[in-house]
Amino acid sequence: MRNNPIVPLAHSQPGWTEQQPSDWIQASLDALSDVAQQLPGSEAIALGLSGQMHGMVPLDRDGIVIRPAILWNDQRTGEAVTAIETAIPRQELIQRTGNPAITGFQLPKLIWLRTEEPHAYAQLHQILLPKDYLGYVLTGEAVTEPSDASGVGCLNLATRQWDAEVLAALDLNPALFPPVVDSRAIAGRLKPDIAATVGLPAGLPIVAGGGDNAAAAIGLGISSSHLDRGSLSIGTSGVIFAACDRPTPDPAGRVHLFCHVDGGYHLLGVTLAAGGALRWYRETFASQVAFADLMALAEQSPPGARQVLFLPHLAGERSPHLDPDTRGAWVNLSLAHTQADVVRSVLEGVAFGLREALLVVRAIAPVEQLLATGGGARSPIWLKILADVLQMPLIAPQLEEGAAYGAALLAMVGVGAYPNLEAVFNLLPQAESVTQPQVNSAYEEAFERFQMLYEALKVVR
Ligand code: XUL
Repeated sequence: MRNNPIVPLAHSQPGWTEQQPSDWIQASLDALSDVAQQLPGSEAIALGLSGQMHGMVPLDRDGIVIRPAILWNDQRTGEAVTAIETAIPRQELIQRTGNPAITGFQLPKLIWLRTEEPHAYAQLHQILLPKDYLGYVLTGEAVTEPSDASGVGCLNLATRQWDAEVLAALDLNPALFPPVVDSRAIAGRLKPDIAATVGLPAGLPIVAGGGDNAAAAIGLGISSSHLDRGSLSIGTSGVIFAACDRPTPDPAGRVHLFCHVDGGYHLLGVTLAAGGALRWYRETFASQVAFADLMALAEQSPPGARQVLFLPHLAGERSPHLDPDTRGAWVNLSLAHTQADVVRSVLEGVAFGLREALLVVRAIAPVEQLLATGGGARSPIWLKILADVLQMPLIAPQLEEGAAYGAALLAMVGVGAYPNLEAVFNLLPQAESVTQPQVNSAYEEAFERFQMLYEALKVVR
């Protein structure tokens, strides 16, 4: 087995993030070879796709990548976002696509390409999302599916197809976008040359799959038939995922609304610096201290961190502010405060930011409990802070395999190995450890002050 490859990230200008799609392909082919070696070829029955959302892979007429992929966290498209909302009023865009124009989505990247790199745009035949490009290389078929396509910015959520009127208002050729098939549909079959390279059977069915968040949710058994159970992930970013059965957006678009892979929908509240905020703290102020020791320090400070408040907007913020230019802050510091208070304020600030997003989610989706995943959720103190601040039971799943596992479950349904997702969910181990929330007035008071911070600090930017 090879180690997990690190696919290089290029930041050639501030706010730009790009990757070479050929690097993804190489890493994926290596991973498939490793899997094939552990599995006699006859046992592979299907392959499901998943990947990072929102990225743009521009292809020419021969299917050759024209320029590096622009990724989900790239922030170059501010002017394109304004241009989109000038062509289609924001309210109408939210009603049709579930979301306002957002810098990280794929559609503004396409508008950026047309304006800033007209030579590349002139060669453009099709744009694909990252996992769909992988599917194209594996099968020769360019298709997408609704969960990832709804993160492009021009998918009509009611029809689950590209919105012809939005594209017309932007003077975009609909043929640039691949056909949208069901997430459980067979997108194509493994090409013989690739099959020979990786050691899997030629013709292996490749199921369309889902964006990383939707696929990971399936791996946790979260579907639009069980609306009470959502998820909370504390990785670099913090993500709240809640399924819903209708495409009801937040009227102000403060959380994302996307299609789920099961035919329903889901809301996504994304805070950009969660585990990332703690990592930044450690790298900047406590590089010699282990994470476990930082967590032990945080426990020495009481709930409310003795009034220290931290605004975790170190990378701007998505939910609920949709503001790439907001920045982080500490307030109320005094000579009496210690490192314990400051570390605790970071953990609490992340939890308060997530509570702001959860309030918007809960106004739409009836979520009552959250499966807690990601590195941050493995810390008992952070989990306890999160449960108390969010006022939600947090459940530790037994199995946390992520998006690839969910994509494999979808693939099994796609090829009929299981009749439906419900049958697949029965395979998942039952979670057992639950952190129940307790009301703590220190958090309630601190959250009230936290909610005022963003607006108050706008004036000193
Ligand atoms: C979701 C989002 C991220 C990416 C990362 O809107 O931007 O979760 O999918 O892979």
